[in-house]
Amino acid sequence: MTVKPQRKPFIETAHGAAVLGDALDALATLPESSVDLIMTSPPFGLVRKKEYGNVDADRYIEWFRPFAARFHAVLKNSGSLVIDIGGAWNQGRPTRHLYHFKLLIALCEEFNFHLAQDFYWWNPSKLPTPAEWVTVRRIRVKDAINTIWWLGKTPWPKASNRRVLQPYSPSMKDLLTNGYRAKKRPSGHDISDKFAVNNGAAIPPNLIAVPNTESNSHYIRYCQEHGLPVHPARYPADLPEYFIRMLTERGDLVIDPFAGSCMTGEIAERLHRRWLCVELREDYLKGALGRFKGREGSKAKHDPSKKEDTNFYRIPRPGSLWSADEGEPLREDGGKKRADRKEAGKSGKNLKNQNQSKGFSAVAIAARGTAT
Ligand SMILES: C[S@@+](CC[C@H](N)C(=O)[O-])C[C@H]1O[C@@H](n2cnc3c(N)ncnc32)[C@H](O)[C@@H]1O
Repeated sequence: MTVKPQRKPFIETAHGAAVLGDALDALATLPESSVDLIMTSPPFGLVRKKEYGNVDADRYIEWFRPFAARFHAVLKNSGSLVIDIGGAWNQGRPTRHLYHFKLLIALCEEFNFHLAQDFYWWNPSKLPTPAEWVTVRRIRVKDAINTIWWLGKTPWPKASNRRVLQPYSPSMKDLLTNGYRAKKRPSGHDISDKFAVNNGAAIPPNLIAVPNTESNSHYIRYCQEHGLPVHPARYPADLPEYFIRMLTERGDLVIDPFAGSCMTGEIAERLHRRWLCVELREDYLKGALGRFKGREGSKAKHDPSKKEDTNFYRIPRPGSLWSADEGEPLREDGGKKRADRKEAGKSGKNLKNQNQSKGFSAVAIAARGTAT
């Protein structure tokens, strides 16, 4: 059975449809307890607005309330709500806004959702912003994480981690080959010899490492050829695919109420889930057509070989460059007053010299630790 939205769809495919309009209107047409998964990335709460009209972080919960109520109503008891949401910096201050945590608390405490698990999407390609705090005053680090709140309508949304297994890390492979001596860990956990059983693949952690670097996809070329804007806040295909695989079966209904370029729809179509996407802006949906046009019946399948080199991101352990010399002195004012550029430059050079004299190179550092 295909999805039959009440209004004429802007895009219609074998398994789903995208409609132009407000998500609340579209959700009102869906029967209660009919949806298996709401997979979405809403407009983030920002202090400085983006192209597609973000929501004021201070008024975010107020804005989200009517959506939360309808999401709860349309989900089945076995259904899930998965929200990808980035944080925000307070204006003019090197501090973080709390809006995405407040959203999570409101969803659980006001709307009776249950936090099944919090996920963290690490985007290794994120730029070091805001420049003032990260690259100029050097008083904060790169913000490279989006939170992903996975919520259930009940404490028992249907799910299986067997659907999203990943290859063993090099250290686990080594352990499986060379054996493991069962013992108690310093944390007190008793690691039995069952730990060293080769199950073929590893249970993934709640940290998802995916760069957001798509630059030459069919979708982008389609937008460019048709003079349409490429959506500025797309999530990578791996994100919706992960949750659609883990939380739904073929034929289940997946909806994305803030669809943007319909990435969710494209993946749901490929995985034979019924789907409904809703987007306010017509130019984004015109671009989204490129995800489906000319691809009817396409057998485009997941090709793991293409992802081989991105299976594991190596991140150096924090201590790779630590030494007895702790580097530039900390400023008592926390960086409130901008440091003199020459002075800041000097301490930066000293650190560089120290590291070079220790024989560290980026390659050596990268080879030291893994993210797994
Ligand atoms: C963060 S973007 C989603 C991007 C999408 N995940 C992708 O990969 O292309 C959020 C989208 O929600 C849309 N939007 C905002 N309010 C909406 C509403 N009330 N109903 C439908 N769409 C809305 C915005 O126009 C924007 O395109």
